[in-house]
Amino acid sequence: MILSMIIAIDGPAASGKSTVAREVAKRLGFKYIDTGAMYRAVTWKALRDKVDISSEDALTVLARHAEITISELEDTRYAVTIDGEDVTEAIREPKVSAAVSSVAKLPGVRATLVKKQQGYADIYPNMVVEGRDIGTAVFPDADIKIYLQALPGERAKRRQRELKEKGHRIEVVSVERDILKRDKTDSTRATGPLAKAADAYVVDTTEKTIGQVVQEIIGLAKKS
Ligand code: DC
Repeated sequence: MILSMIIAIDGPAASGKSTVAREVAKRLGFKYIDTGAMYRAVTWKALRDKVDISSEDALTVLARHAEITISELEDTRYAVTIDGEDVTEAIREPKVSAAVSSVAKLPGVRATLVKKQQGYADIYPNMVVEGRDIGTAVFPDADIKIYLQALPGERAKRRQRELKEKGHRIEVVSVERDILKRDKTDSTRATGPLAKAADAYVVDTTEKTIGQVVQEIIGLAKKS
């Protein structure tokens, strides 16, 4: 029987983290934490309330007072709220995606959200946590660390498909440009950059199905 286990899943934008992490959490009966959704929720609220998104102080205060929930619906669907408002769909809008990296690079915002993320471990002993810095900064002692990667062209195609399902028609080259821009900001920032932990298992998802990747991670969890 598993008593307590944290599975950290990191990787660049559209590498398949969310789909894989949700499925692994569901199959193992673990709590799923999407830390990207937390940065997105803070960004959404700042844009909606016209908070100056270059002001670290203002955004840190907003993040500190925000109550963010990530709760399971049915299947592998999750709802995200910030201060009681359901933002599940709104946080995926292109305008939030375009602004989130500049919010996520602010050390005050990161310190605040990382603390909230670490606090979840006191409530949920078994979690699948996905993000950019989970294996390196949030849970450096995670039992299993996975770094998912895929070629940029494939990631852009996947993200374009998701956006199309939501009614946004964007050229694949423009999706790829946005993804690469976000990766650059995420991996070059001073605090908690996107990085592979030295002890992470690297899984390239370019030519793998979701099912194969999920199976690989569940295999590692069972072995551990
Ligand atoms: O995984 P995502 O695309 O929803 O993440 C949104 C943004 O949040 C992404 O640009 C990087 C940032 N992020 C982060 O800085 N640290 C995390 N742990 C998770 C996401």
